[in-house]
Amino acid sequence: MLGLKVPTNPEWVTVAVENIPAILSDHAHCEKKAAMFAMNMITRYPERSRLVSDMIELAQEEVEHFELVHKHILSRSEKLRHDKGGSYARQLHALISKNEPQKLLDSLIVGAIIEARSCERFSILAKHISDSSLAEFYTSLLASEAGHYRAYTDIAREYYPATLVKKRLKELLEFEAVIISSLDNKPLMHG
Ligand SMILES: [Fe+2]
Ligand SMILES: [Fe+2]
Repeated sequence: MLGLKVPTNPEWVTVAVENIPAILSDHAHCEKKAAMFAMNMITRYPERSRLVSDMIELAQEEVEHFELVHKHILSRSEKLRHDKGGSYARQLHALISKNEPQKLLDSLIVGAIIEARSCERFSILAKHISDSSLAEFYTSLLASEAGHYRAYTDIAREYYPATLVKKRLKELLEFEAVIISSLDNKPLMHG
């Protein structure tokens, strides 16, 4: 899906469906962090008008998703938990170059890859969760997250040659495959 090199380990699916409250809380924090990442991109690149416009829209959608996940948490008489987080996003962010112009390209591609993996995991949850309202909710998020993948890659092609974007996307997707395969199937969205 969306260029990902390896599918999710089936063991994660088993852990996830058995720990829905933990998954929902982590998912909520992921949506919040996706919005924060988009706002942070605006702070770093205010003069990149295409990026600013797209990141405003993306951040708004991620905050809406955060609100929807939070409502699902409340409807199950649960509360948002403290963010335990995982190492997935941290390991990907560590691959971003410290120097421009590579830093912007890497940031956009890492943003795209996290959206792609989220999209894959939402589609898995939509298929395996027995709670039909939650399964429908995950289905409803798919198009939006796939759109975010395209937004990040489109912005990258706005500022860098398409061949360079393709090459770096392929490299970082290969690293992502190693990272996701090394995780120990915790009840986290990217666990
Ligand atoms: Fe989202
Ligand atoms: Fe997203």
